[in-house]
Order: sequence, then C-alpha cells, then structure tokens
Amino acid sequence: MIPVNEPLLGANTQAYVLDCLNTGWISSAGSYIRRFEEAFAAFVGVKHAVTTTSGTTALHLALAALGIGPGDEVIIPDLTMIAVPYAVLYTGARPILLDVDPETFNLDPDRLRDFIRTWCRFDSASNTLFHKRTGGAVRAVLPVHLYGHPCRMDEILDLARENNLFVVEDAAEAHGALYRSGRSPRPLPAGSMGDVGCFSFYANKIVTTGEGGMVVTDSDETAERCRRLKDLAHSPERRFLHTDLAYNYRMTNVQAAIGLAQVEEVDRFIALKRKMAEAYHAGLSGIDGLTLPLEKPWGWSVYWMYAVLVEEPFGLSREDVTARLKDHGVDTRTFFVPVHEQPVFQKEFLPGEDALPVSVALSKKGFYLPSGLALTEEQIARVCQAVKAVRQSRP
Ligand SMILES: Cc1ncc(COP(=O)(O)O)c(C=O)c1O
Repeated sequence: MIPVNEPLLGANTQAYVLDCLNTGWISSAGSYIRRFEEAFAAFVGVKHAVTTTSGTTALHLALAALGIGPGDEVIIPDLTMIAVPYAVLYTGARPILLDVDPETFNLDPDRLRDFIRTWCRFDSASNTLFHKRTGGAVRAVLPVHLYGHPCRMDEILDLARENNLFVVEDAAEAHGALYRSGRSPRPLPAGSMGDVGCFSFYANKIVTTGEGGMVVTDSDETAERCRRLKDLAHSPERRFLHTDLAYNYRMTNVQAAIGLAQVEEVDRFIALKRKMAEAYHAGLSGIDGLTLPLEKPWGWSVYWMYAVLVEEPFGLSREDVTARLKDHGVDTRTFFVPVHEQPVFQKEFLPGEDALPVSVALSKKGFYLPSGLALTEEQIARVCQAVKAVRQSRP
C-alpha cells in the first residue's frame, strides 16, 4: 500500500535529539525551543514564533491572546479541519461559517464582503462589527490556507482593517506557501500577513515535530501574551501566583530538536512537494472528470496534499474511486466534512449564509492522493497508473 503520508526527518535529527537525551534537557526548558522558534520566525519572516503542543492549541492560544471570548464571534471557512471551530469554541466565542472558493477551496473574500454588508452593522462609537442576527461582536476572521494554497489575503486584510477584525491565519497546511500581495514587492509567506499565524507540526506536515504547533506574530504584545498563557500565566512578581486563567501548551525540547532539524531542510522539503505536484500534473492531466489542483497566478502553493476532485464525467463516484484505488494499493483521504454538517455542532454553529453549496459539493467530490515527503517518483508513477486503470474500469 502506498500511504497517504510518510514523513522525512532532517539529517541532524538524531544528533539534536541525542543531545537532549545526553544532557537531560527533555522538558520545555532546553535551548532547542529558542533555536527552533528563532529559525521558524526567520523562515516565516516574522518577529516572534512561540512553540505550542499542536496546531489546535496554537489556534486556541492565538485567539485567547487576542482577547477573544464569550459574546464574540469569529468568521471561519465551512470547509476546514475540525480544530478550527473547536479552537473558537474553546475561547467561549462562536464560529460563523462562510462558503469557500470553488477553485482554491479557501475562504472566499466575496462571501466575506457579502456577509459583512448583509448581516453586520459597524458601530463607530465602539469600533465594533456586530452580527445583526445574534447581536454578537464579530472580532476576527480566520482564513485557512487549505492543502497548501494561499488565500486571497489582500481582500481579506482590507475587509478586516475596515471592520476592526483581527486576522488569524491558519497556515497548518501551508509552511512556505507564498502570496503575491499588492502591498509588497516580494511575495509574502503564509502566516506572516495577519495579526497572528498558526502552524501545525503533526507528522504529516511539511515541518514536523511529531506533534506540535507554533504561533507567529510581529506584535511584541501578542507574543508576550502567548508566552504567558501557554505557560500557566505565572505572575511575573511571584511564581505560583496566578491572576489569569491559562494553559499548559508547552512543547518539549526533544520535539523542538526534531523541529530545528526540519527547518534546516524546509526548502528541500518544499521543493520535493512541488516536484511531486509536477509529476502528478504530468501523469494525470487530460483525464476526463478528474480536476487537478490549480495554482493561482497570485499564489505559490506548497501542495501539502495533492487534492483532486471527481466530477460527473469520470463515471464513478468519489467513494468508488477511492475504494478501487485501495484495491490497487493506493491509500487516499477524502476532503474534510463541512463544519456545519458535523454532528457535534448541530446546535453550536452559526451559518453566516443560508446555504454553503460550494463547501458541500467539494466535500463530496474531493480526495487526496499519496503526498508524503518520502514518496518516490516510482510510487507517483504507480499512483497515476492506478488512477487511469480505475477510470477505465468504470461500467
Ligand atoms: C487546517 C488545519 N488547522 C489546524 C490543524 C490542527 O493541527 P494539529 O493536528 O497539530 O492539532 C490541522 C491539522 O491537521 C489543520 O489541517
């Protein structure tokens, strides 16, 4: 079976991890934490990077550090990983779900504009955007750079600035993805454009620490709040005295050692992902009914996962295709289930729109092919052959 993901570890991993073990620095207190944070901040092009235990806790920490809480609302895409609405709910705020762009699968700025115009009221006295249906204060928008392709950030940032919203980028799947912004002569990295960016380092991510995450920001104040809140908010005057409710989201030195070795090779890893995408494009283009992932002229994708859509002319359902690929020894994963269809949110979710048709359609048609960093050219060729054989096997 060709797995969906198999990680590659950096060349220095063993040496760095052994260093932790030999010196006994295995908790969050060791020097690899600082080195990993500094290297990652430089990679994203931001001032601060703060390690956490996962991408989920990075999102929660970022929202908490921005002061988001009960009575607040956060706009998120409907097609995303469950950690996104969970993180919003952990703060006591509620997620507002918007539909996504059919080509990039990302939060659609046109939907965001329509939602603000139709369903919100900006109160100049308090400088706050209120949701007319609920009376809640809309405090933030959380674009997710899904499967490694950047969102249309300029429009999202403009709308956010006009309406006093924080922008929390979820770059969990987009380490190194670039966006050609009208605001900058150089393309800007995913995670560097909002008030805060959040990353996951789960084992299937482009940079991994096994489990782990990072919050990045240019704001000294937000970084300081993240550092305090992730470490139980000990009072600066007296350790073990606490004035704020906080969390233990501390990464260990051993994980940071793995992460540092990964960041040292991140350019090579991203080049491998792009090479994988090129090989898949070459092997799979021209198959009727199979839509391949695109790269917008303003975006530079890192193809975290090679995500395809099974359309009507393919002649088989997405479920049939993935089952038959399994018979050919090719593992796959289907797209996320839309947030509004998650049983856990039946009472909690707030639709920003009456219907979310693009998200629903994509979730039924989409799946991704093996895309791990350890994938070989020979395996990619076998996957392409398997897809073609499945196409020919339709009734
Ligand atoms: C878009 C997105 N956000 C958040 C997360 C959560 O990250 P983690 O699994 O490290 O908690 C993931 C994880 O895969 C993700 O894909």
